[in-house]
This record gives sequence, structure tokens and C-alpha cells, in this order.
Amino acid sequence: MEDIISLCKRRGFIFPGSDVYGGFAGTWDFGPLGVTLKKKLMDEWWHYFVDSRDDIYGVDAAILMNPKTWIASGHTATFADPLVECKECKSRFRADKIASGITESVTTEEFLATHTKCPVCGKENWGPIRKFNMMFTTHVGAVLPDDDAELAEKNIAYLRPETAQGIFTNYKNVVDTIYPNIPFGLAQQGKAFRNEISPRDFILRDRECSQMEIEYFVHPDTWEENFEALRAAQHDFLENIIGLDGSKLHEYEVPAEDRAHYSKRTIDFMFDYPNGEEELMGLAYRTDFDLSNIARESGKSMEYRDKNTNETFVPHVIEPSIGVERLTLAVLSNAYTEDEINGEKRIVLKLPENLAPFRFCVSPLLKNKPELVEKAKEVYSMLRKKYTNVTWDDSGNIGKRYRKQDEIGTPKCVVIDFDTLEDDTVTVRDRNTTEQIRIKISEL
Ligand code: GAP
Repeated sequence: MEDIISLCKRRGFIFPGSDVYGGFAGTWDFGPLGVTLKKKLMDEWWHYFVDSRDDIYGVDAAILMNPKTWIASGHTATFADPLVECKECKSRFRADKIASGITESVTTEEFLATHTKCPVCGKENWGPIRKFNMMFTTHVGAVLPDDDAELAEKNIAYLRPETAQGIFTNYKNVVDTIYPNIPFGLAQQGKAFRNEISPRDFILRDRECSQMEIEYFVHPDTWEENFEALRAAQHDFLENIIGLDGSKLHEYEVPAEDRAHYSKRTIDFMFDYPNGEEELMGLAYRTDFDLSNIARESGKSMEYRDKNTNETFVPHVIEPSIGVERLTLAVLSNAYTEDEINGEKRIVLKLPENLAPFRFCVSPLLKNKPELVEKAKEVYSMLRKKYTNVTWDDSGNIGKRYRKQDEIGTPKCVVIDFDTLEDDTVTVRDRNTTEQIRIKISEL
């Protein structure tokens, strides 16, 4: 993990949030290469699940939502983690993350029975477990708490803790406007915020993250077959579209006591990260929990009328939900390799071509030969027109350029030399094998 964090910072993938001020726990900023990788991942997901299918449509809802949303969804009452405080050093932790063999619903007695020592001071002197709601609050409108505390309280809004509710609250709008045939899905990508007690493990557990979620609306009798189809689609996307190693992916059937309050079945897709197996994404059967609660809270019917059978029912929902940061880290750690070339250690990011920030790097063999630079610029602009993500590098010597491009995952380096001026051929060097071939510019 340390090697990946260091590579991410050194090469401009990911920086600590507010780095210049000493950071801000649980936040991360994506640099020029990181944002390209992240965007490509998000675009691949959108292309695979939305653009290439007839049954899934996109939405982009506001982050700030009517607070009734979070009452109906159960987040106000139950979106809480078990907080425990060390009475000696006052450090606070999420109980289920520092003791083994317990779950989020742990009681004080169960936690004390684990005889966990404080990770900071090493003592064993704990306060009671308290439930800590993870939603961030903010105030909407020009009301100051000193003006009118009661009104200020009424104006509290939350930063959404999941993108899902922006989908559920638009279900009726979509049904009433585009009349989709059931089963159909609504997809959304966007920011979600959670006041995690202990953000940790680089970008795995953040206070601000991005989610890509689908709420797939089905007839209640067909939830199982739709669950299986979406389960298979997740594997196809993860393994065949973005190239994750299937042997590093594991499914975990979440037992009833550990499932979120809305779920009747959940499979967590776990990934072998450098620090061990962690949740990458979840696939949940949310029943009609959300739509029925929205109907109750809003007084509006969430029923769907089947055009063919005339049957009316509240759809049930299957939800695949994935965090972009966790996916980015899975892709980075899947791609990170070290080998040795001529006795020298080499770091190579073996990113699939569709995700690499740059597809090609173009260089003149020598920077101080104008005729080489001019020809290389020609090749560079030709490739840019064709592939967009192409970079130029004329710094240092050619060996150093290769090392740099290997580290950022550029699949091919194209070098223009004196032979190019004679016969219009270039050297193309492969990132993974370091093999070099000579081909015509027109064949690039
Ligand atoms: N709408 C369902 C939902 O939000 P979740 O299991 O709480 O379910 C879904 O979150 C996914 O979002 C997780 O599997 C993970 O990929 C990502 N995620 C959740 N909390 C996160 C955090 N604090 N930091 C980074 N990613 C997070």
C-alpha cells in the first residue's frame, strides 16, 4: 500500500485533500493523471450499464435533498456506527473496526468481552458504545443560529450519504415521463458524504467519496432472477471491461444481522487489496422498502401499472452500488508490478489500454535536434487527433522517459530518430515486455 500511495503522489494521481494546509482527514484530491483514470473508469461504467443497454437510464439529482428523504429512507434513525471512546486518552474509534469477531450492532458488553486494547495508548478502559450518525449536516438559507435557533434547526439539511435516494425520489418522474417497461433501472454517479469515525486505508474509507449506483426496478416475483443477472453483469464489468483479476474478487453473503436496514439479501464483492480483503462493492435486494417509505412520507403513489397485464404493484429493487475510489484503488493495485531490467528495479503500472491515462507517449530521440523535434511533433499531433490521450515527453534521456511512462502506465512509447527522417518509420516500445518494434508512421 505504501508503494502505491507514494507512486500516486509522486506521479500526480492522488494527493491528500487540502495537502498545502497539512491535509483534511478522509478527503483526497485527484491530480491530472488520477482524474483521467477516474473519469475513464466512470465512463466505462456508464457506457457498459447505461449507454449499451435498453433498460437502464441515467439521472443526475441534486446533492442537497429535502430532509424528508432521509427520514423516509431510515438514514436519520439508523445510519449510525458504533462509537467507543478510550477513557484514558480520549481517542474515539469505530468499535467493530478495532475488535475482531464483532459486528456493527455490537453492544457495550460484547465489546468489553473482547478485551480490546486502545490502539493509541494501549490501555483497556472504555466508555459505553454510542451510536454515531454519519450524515453531515448543513444549514440551508440565510438563517443564523443566533438569530433564531429553532428556525436554524428546522433548516438543517444533509449532504447525501448515498446517491441512491436521488434515484428513488425521481422514480415517479421517470415513470410518468418516459414510461419504461419493467424491469428497468436508473443509474447515477456522484458524490456521497459520510462522517466516518475513522477514515483509513488511503482512499478506501473516505468522508467524501463518489458512488456509481443502479436501482433496478422489478416485479416482486422476479427479484431472484434479476439479482442473478445483475450479479453476473458486475463480474463481467469488473473482470472483462476494466480487467480486474478474477482470482482477487470474492463474494461474501452478508448475514441478516450485518445487512443494512433496507436489505433482504446482500452480497459484498470483496477485493484483495494490498492491505487485505476489503469490500469493493455491494449488491443488495432492497425490496420495496424505499418506494413504500417514499409513498408514505410524500403521500404520492409509487405504484407501477404494467401496460401488458394491467397489474398494479410497487416495484422491488435490486441495487448494485460501487465506490469510485475503491474501484480506482482496486485497479491501481491490480496493475502495480515491480520487475528488474538489466539489474535495475522497474515499477510498471500494467493498466488496461482503455484505462491508462495516456495511450501513447511520443518523443524525439534527442531534444536538441530541431529536425527530430519537428517530425516528432507531427506524429504527436496525428496520434492526438486519433486517440486524444497522448502525451509528449522530451525530458531526460530515453531510458528515464521509459521508466516514467512505465510508472504511469502508458502502454506504448513512440520514438522518432534519424532513421525516421529517412524512411518514415518509428520505434514503438511496449510497456509490459519492453520489446521494441519498428513500424511505419502510417501504420501507427
Ligand atoms: N446505496 C447503498 C450504499 O450506499 P454502502 O454499502 O453503504 O451501500 C456502497 O456503500 C459502496 O460505496 C461501498 O461498497 C463502497 O464501494 C462505497 N463506499 C461506501 N462508503 C464509503 C467510504 N466511506 N469511502 C469510500 N467508499 C465508500
